[in-house]
Amino acid sequence: MRVAFASDHAGLTLKTSLVAAVRELGHEPVDLGPESGASVDYPDFAKKLCAEVVAARVDCGVLVCGTGIGMSMTANKVKGIRAALCHTEFEARMTRAHNDANVLCLGERVVGSGVARGIVEAFLSSKFEGGRHAARVAKIE
Ligand code: RB5
Repeated sequence: MRVAFASDHAGLTLKTSLVAAVRELGHEPVDLGPESGASVDYPDFAKKLCAEVVAARVDCGVLVCGTGIGMSMTANKVKGIRAALCHTEFEARMTRAHNDANVLCLGERVVGSGVARGIVEAFLSSKFEGGRHAARVAKIE
């Protein structure tokens, strides 16, 4: 899968480690920044990543900020984006299976890097179940 990544300064370290992790798993990461730890505004990077997902230039995206909350609030304002803030692998599997989430949000100050890697793996390996869930997801739009 082609997977976009973006963060703010508070999510930079985790984003960098997850980019390497998904590459190891055989996916194609697309790092949309930032590249340094200078203070930036998370909505700018959330919008940049969501534009890539909506345009189908990537299969899905991962956004990281301090809590994951600001990223998820911003991403869910974008038409066509279904962003899920996850803290567990269970949430990541369920949001793919039932909500057809196309953006995963994580908080570097909330989850450890090992837990975050497991969450990303679960998100990327889970499939939307469709069926009764498809009509519900359509109602979101
Ligand atoms: C940055 O200090 C922090 O506010 C941001 O990363 C995020 O947690 C916002 O939701």
